[in-house]
Parts: sequence; structure tokens; C-alpha cells
Amino acid sequence: MVKIEPFEVEQWFDRLENTPGVLNVAETCAASVSYDDLVHLCEDKTLPDPLRRSQKLTYGAIRGSEQLRQRVASLFGRASEAEPLPAGNVIITQGAIGANFLLFYTLIGPGDHVICVYPTYQQLYSVPESLGAEVSLWRLKEENGYVPVVEELEGLVRSNTKMIVINNPNNPTGSTMPKRVLEGIVAFAKQRGIIILSDEVYSPLYHSLPDGQDAPPSVLALGYEKTVATGSMSKAFSLAGIRLGWIASRDRSIIEAVAVARDYTTISVSQLDDQVASYALSQPVMRPLLSRNMALAKTNLALLSAFIERHATVCSWVKPTAGTTALVQFKKKGVPVDDPKFVLDLLKTTNVLVMPANPCFGLGQDFKGFIRFGYVCETEVLIAGLEKLEQYVKEHLM
Ligand SMILES: Cc1ncc(COP(=O)(O)O)c(C=O)c1O
Repeated sequence: MVKIEPFEVEQWFDRLENTPGVLNVAETCAASVSYDDLVHLCEDKTLPDPLRRSQKLTYGAIRGSEQLRQRVASLFGRASEAEPLPAGNVIITQGAIGANFLLFYTLIGPGDHVICVYPTYQQLYSVPESLGAEVSLWRLKEENGYVPVVEELEGLVRSNTKMIVINNPNNPTGSTMPKRVLEGIVAFAKQRGIIILSDEVYSPLYHSLPDGQDAPPSVLALGYEKTVATGSMSKAFSLAGIRLGWIASRDRSIIEAVAVARDYTTISVSQLDDQVASYALSQPVMRPLLSRNMALAKTNLALLSAFIERHATVCSWVKPTAGTTALVQFKKKGVPVDDPKFVLDLLKTTNVLVMPANPCFGLGQDFKGFIRFGYVCETEVLIAGLEKLEQYVKEHLM
């Protein structure tokens, strides 16, 4: 039987997110849209909406429709002069969670060593560990703005290091790995033939970069063959309900190896999901959808930022530059709060849901007192949630 750690953040969500009347300020998707919203957003009214024409629901194309894989491949051309990615180098999965799992399942086993940034989505280190690999965590530090220090790889690498796992933008900190850092990681990995997996599920939501800093390219755009990117429709594209993600690699042999393993778990994804995703990634729909989400992220981050400034005696953070999440530390009289207790009591007394860093992102007591916000929800939800949080903080922490 497989030995795997419980997936803490998913279990906390499962237990708490359907609390009646919940004000969910923990959700990591940019506020979800309906199918009708997508059709409404479309800038080209001559574009047929995909579900209008009834089709027989066969398995369809096994690796994902050609059109969808082409549209996913074209995402990797953005912000780079790299060679276009062929559609054949993309394979469709059930969400980014399916993509990450399948990739580890295909490539990682006993005897392998994996380096993974931390904190991040627990799947990225717990799954390789469950497959028998040894995992070293590459700690992102507050004093570096949660951006990894490339030189530290020297101290982590081993002769059997097979993969370096990064997450850009990062969940939970909302930090961005700039291009120069990505280039450093690529140079390090290339010298040693190490595969890089970049979970880019929050890309391209680089909404609040400092002036003069460009959005980084995908890891696939940096001229190294052994690079893999995973992503999905859930976060930046607001369509978690279609459960559609992808694995893309510059190395076709990685995609072929994944396809062999995938036959045992997937056959193909839902044809309805494939068609809706393809429609959402067409230019007339994707453009307004992404500008809605960039604007929503900026508006909401300003609200959260004002809250942090107003309560600077009890909370602090590294302000996020991208993605949908922020990691905020709460203290009472200078002492970090007991974050899981804080979250449960806040929910019980105010119906506001946020996520505790422990156990969701911290091993042991790392990140004591830290709370993860998912702030790119509907703005009204954030405003109502912050109002209630403000009362709670005044009563309990000040
Ligand atoms: C970094 C990261 N990767 C993958 C996933 C899974 O996303 P999906 O809904 O596409 O399966 C999440 C969800 O929170 C995530 O934060």
C-alpha cells in the first residue's frame, strides 16, 4: 500500500469550505466564471460557442484535441523569443494536480533525489517522497522576498539529483521568480542534466511586479531541453470546474513517457471540458478573461494591502507580486498566533475562511502565526471578509 502524507491544505478545504454562509478568502482561483460568463466575455460574437453544437461524446482525441494542445502550446510563446512549442509537446490532464502527479509517477522512483522549493503546494514534495525518492527542500526566505537563492543549489545537489521542482508564481507566498533567477537554475541544471519541473498554474497572473520588472518567461522558454511546465484552467483562467490541465515539455521523450503511464489513468479527458478549455484559450475569450483577472487581482491586492498597513502592529507580510495568494503573519503582543486555532476560531465566530500555514504549508512549526489568504475572490467577498477580520483582530489581538 502506498505510504503518503495526508494532503493538508486539500483536507482543510474539504472540511471547511462548505460551511454555510462562509466568506471564502482562502480560495486560490481567480473568482470562477460560469460558462455563460465566458460566452458573454467573448469579443468575437461570430465565434460559435462550443457547446451549442451537440456532438457524440466519444473518448475523442486521446492526448487532448489538436486545437486545445495548439492553444496551450501557444501560451509558452508569450514573453519570449523562444522557438514555438509544437502541439505534440503538450499532453492534457485532469487539472494541474493530475499533471504533477502523472509527471512524478512517470519519472521519479526509489534511488532518485529531488530538490523542491518550500513553502509550496504540498503535492510537489509529498508525491516524489511517496514514490521512494529522497526530497530536499529549498527554503524560500522572507528576507529574500521568498525568491530562491540559486547559489544554495550547490549545497543541496547530489549525484542522484533527478529533478528540481519550482513553482512560479509561488503558492502560498505570491512571489515571482524573475528571469535571471530562472536562468541561474537552468544553467545549474543543464550542467548536470537535471530535469526542471516548473508548476506554472498561476501564470500569467504577474499583476503587481515592481516598476521595471518584466513578467518572467515560462521555464520552457530558456533554451534547455529537459524542462517541463504544468498548468491548468483553474487559477488564472477561473475554470477549476472543468478540471483541465496540461504537461508541456521541450523534451518530446518526456511527453512520450508520460503518455505511456497516462494510458493507465486517463484514456482521455472529458470532451466537454476539452471544448470549453479550447474556447476559453481562443484569443477573443482569453484576452478579456485575463484582463478581468489581472484587474481583479490588482484591485483586491490594494484592499488587502490597506488592511495590512492599518494593522501593522499585529500583522506583516512580504507583499505578493503575482498569483492569487498572500502569506501574512499575525502576532499578539509580538508573539505569533497559534495559526490553526486562529483560523478555526475566526471561522466559528465570523464565518471568514482563511488557511493556516500550519499544517497546510509548514512542516513542524515552520511559518508559525502565518495565514494564507486567497484574495482574488469577488471583491465584495473580500471587502466583507476583511471587515469581519478587522473586528476580530481588534477584539482578540490588540
Ligand atoms: C501550485 C499548485 N499546483 C497545482 C494545483 C492544482 O490545480 P488544479 O485545480 O489545476 O488541479 C494547485 C491548486 O491549488 C496549486 O496551488
